[in-house]
Amino acid sequence: MTLAIAVLASGRGSNLQAIMDAIENKTLDAVVKIVLSDKENAKALDRAREKGIKAVFISPKDFAQKIDYEEAMLQEIKEHHCNLICLAGYMRILSPYFVQNAPCRIMNIHPSLLPSFPGLHAHQQALDYGVKYSGCTVHFVDEGMDSGAIIFQEIVEILPDDTEDSLSERILIKEHQIYPKAIQAFGEGRLRQEGRKVIIQDN
Ligand code: GAR
Repeated sequence: MTLAIAVLASGRGSNLQAIMDAIENKTLDAVVKIVLSDKENAKALDRAREKGIKAVFISPKDFAQKIDYEEAMLQEIKEHHCNLICLAGYMRILSPYFVQNAPCRIMNIHPSLLPSFPGLHAHQQALDYGVKYSGCTVHFVDEGMDSGAIIFQEIVEILPDDTEDSLSERILIKEHQIYPKAIQAFGEGRLRQEGRKVIIQDN
């Protein structure tokens, strides 16, 4: 069954692009039904529209409460009968309301080896801490911040003269590889969660 996905993105949308490219080159059996953004000028919205995908800006400022804003997003997701919600550079914390009321599971990509360096500025956090390796993590979203069960991780070595930009550039290459891979494994029903552990069955 082709997986129907909703993507939430706040910015550049390179992970959305990697997902759309993987669909196009048939390494990912999915269809992006809708892209939602909290930023009107997010490049992610343009990237989606270029592919003829419905792309909607929903302004959090139009709603008195966060859950009303999130409910508007959930309505769009439900109308499009999505089987998976993918956060791709969505820079707001989803409330427990969203997580509990989502019609399907939610995945996120984060630019560090979780549980190290959750939240904002993950690259700078890694550089400031002085770790020798960082990387990226695809995980299921739970009610905490970047705390859900881990699906895939990739390691990137930190070089002595790395900056936030140079490190983020190298990590991004890995992000674009593991996110479509995780979504495909989910679509094939190969991800089984036991407590905190995600067991990946061979294909
Ligand atoms: C990516 O590096 C993603 O891992 C990160 O934002 C960037 C979005 O780039 N996400 C987070 O930091 C979430 N906490 P993109 O818009 O080009 O996909």
